[in-house]
Amino acid sequence: MPVFVFILLAAGTSCRKDSTTCNGVPNVAVNFALDLNQPTNVNLQIVEGSVIVTGGYDNVVVYRYTTSQFTAFDCCCPYDGATNSKAVVQLNSNKFSMTCPVCGSTFNLSDGSVIKGPSKCSLKPYVASFDGVSTVSVTN
Ligand code: FES
Repeated sequence: MPVFVFILLAAGTSCRKDSTTCNGVPNVAVNFALDLNQPTNVNLQIVEGSVIVTGGYDNVVVYRYTTSQFTAFDCCCPYDGATNSKAVVQLNSNKFSMTCPVCGSTFNLSDGSVIKGPSKCSLKPYVASFDGVSTVSVTN
């Protein structure tokens, strides 16, 4: 493969931004409730279970951190997601972290923090409150 073709291909799939800042995630209204007894939410009946819900800027992941604690984050990569539509984090097989497919930043679902860069910014959090019975409300 000619060298210049390889350089062109490589340039198209990685972050083209400097490593010192994050573009962040635009603010959008978030306000929904999940019934854990609904079949679509069955994953949330166990600790380390998660579901991805339509909403937020690039969908919202809701994660059961402990028996009584839930977290929620926007799936838009805080590093360059606001300008790169491919930068939507995806759940890893370990079930407690998500990775951006653009250049590999990995985030912890227990608090949104960065496990592996280049992102220096955490996932955008939303407030997840559990009624202790079967409903998780997510707002910003
Ligand atoms: S856009 Fe580069 S890590 Fe997400």
